[in-house]
Amino acid sequence: MTREPVARKNVLVFRALPPDQLARLQAVHAVTVADPRQAAQRPLFDAALADAHGLIGSSFPITAELLAQAPQLQAISSISVGVDNYPLQALQARGIVLCHTPGVLDETVADAVFALLMATSRRVVELSQMVRDGQWTSNIGEALFGSDVHGKTLGLLGFGRIGQAVARRAALGFGMPVLYHARRPVDLTAQAPELLGRAQHVPLANLLERSDIVVALLPLSDSTRGLVNARVFAGMKPGAIFINAGRGATVVEEDLLAALDHGSLRAAGLDVFAIEPLPLSSPLRTHPRVTPLPHIGSATHDTRHAMAALATTNLLQALAGERPAAVYEASGGAGV
Ligand code: DGY
Repeated sequence: MTREPVARKNVLVFRALPPDQLARLQAVHAVTVADPRQAAQRPLFDAALADAHGLIGSSFPITAELLAQAPQLQAISSISVGVDNYPLQALQARGIVLCHTPGVLDETVADAVFALLMATSRRVVELSQMVRDGQWTSNIGEALFGSDVHGKTLGLLGFGRIGQAVARRAALGFGMPVLYHARRPVDLTAQAPELLGRAQHVPLANLLERSDIVVALLPLSDSTRGLVNARVFAGMKPGAIFINAGRGATVVEEDLLAALDHGSLRAAGLDVFAIEPLPLSSPLRTHPRVTPLPHIGSATHDTRHAMAALATTNLLQALAGERPAAVYEASGGAGV
């Protein structure tokens, strides 16, 4: 049986794709590459948007206003798992398919979470800087000691695929009891049998009271925006460490700073911020007990390529009228 050739459509690539993935799109469709974050490319982006049937990219908000400038749009393929850059209601109202990249980045983001967890607990960045600055002039004393990671209690806010990958590292590799808080308990027997008896669903207040390290992996939505606030920090165990690798705006950053400066939060490791790139004026950039990273959770060669490949497959399928491999469906469960 021969398949009908797919009608050539207009595709707008709004964030650079690896050459092999760009070639897959160009083989079938008319492709414009224009990054709207570069002022010089904005006119080309706007012009291509007006004719686009498909969009593919990431890290740029496709607002409802922009959507209104794309009357022919059929599908958006985000090169990300998070979909907070898209107007979900407007997409649904117009029947535009939204695809994303779950599943291919979980282990890589979990590695990055662990890098932050180790760096904050053992003060890796600060002490390395001391050596670089020529300040290692005698054996370090207690004032510069860190805290253990192994055996400490880990509290996870959000327990989707990435949370479960972090929990596996913690429970199986570091002997850490794992608590998690999510909208509903995860069926570990079906989804993560290796965590049976090792990860426990608990109410938020209980998690905060008991966890030595609290890791937020929350998607950004109306129900999670600003969720990690002064009350949450006040509920944490004295000397706790806080890591955020979900979305910056789930945390009230002023409250985080207050917890570091006037509360008993020991340190924070942050891969995400309310505004990215982090403004130079943000006190989080230089705070001595904050380890900031430039949103590198999934940023390895292998994983970013896998994300681009899945996003390309999604868009090709959507524009061919097939069900894409990874359509975004608001499911709930993993968030709080
Ligand atoms: C995602 O995929 O949403 C990540 O935040 C990108 O690193």
